[in-house]
Amino acid sequence: MAHPTGRPRGEADRRRWNTRFAGRAPTFAVHPLTTAALEADVPDGPVLELACGRSGSALALAELGRRVVVADVSDVALDQLRGEARRRGVHDRVLRVEVDLCAWASAVASGRKDVRGTEFPELEGPFAFVLATLFWDADVFRAACARVAPGGLLGWEALADARPRRYHVRHGQLEESLPPGWRVVRAELVGAGARRSSRLLARRTG
Ligand SMILES: C[S@@+](CC[C@H](N)C(=O)[O-])C[C@H]1O[C@@H](n2cnc3c(N)ncnc32)[C@H](O)[C@@H]1O
Repeated sequence: MAHPTGRPRGEADRRRWNTRFAGRAPTFAVHPLTTAALEADVPDGPVLELACGRSGSALALAELGRRVVVADVSDVALDQLRGEARRRGVHDRVLRVEVDLCAWASAVASGRKDVRGTEFPELEGPFAFVLATLFWDADVFRAACARVAPGGLLGWEALADARPRRYHVRHGQLEESLPPGWRVVRAELVGAGARRSSRLLARRTG
């Protein structure tokens, strides 16, 4: 989708994150929200991780037998994740989607069918668990909620700041952004200083 400058924003995001991921070795750590979701009980079905980076959660869920769709703008992160999935023998269960999620969700929100490059049937769901960590975009959040199956879970973490900033939320904003028909399982503020973030685990009841 075109950015007001005429340059696609997703391309700038892709370059920036690719540079970061190429320069730092991945840890493939499992996110605490994934552990909490498994403890709270994830119904049967596939999982979607948005803005996954080099997600250890996606790998762990694939190791548990889940089909996991991983979506990110960074092809470097997705290649590293798929490489590790192959090394662990779970690559058949990890489906990689290279996508500018902001453009995708904005097209979904506007109901436009004519935005080239924003149609991703792999992201349609429904999913038993949708996860996004250290990422925020209001349209992506709405699209994520709509893709959780009834009874399924949404896990979301975003950096928290009182001032409006890209990728950041005001603490409390995640639960306030849930549509009707959701129950908050857990909502907390974690970390400190610039690393403070809001964490939400919620179940779709409707
Ligand atoms: C701070 S990292 C978080 C990665 C991972 N979720 C984690 O918690 O370690 C932000 C992630 O968002 C992805 N991202 C940023 N802008 C994006 C966009 N427009 N579309 C899709 N992914 C994007 C980046 O490539 C990166 O993987």
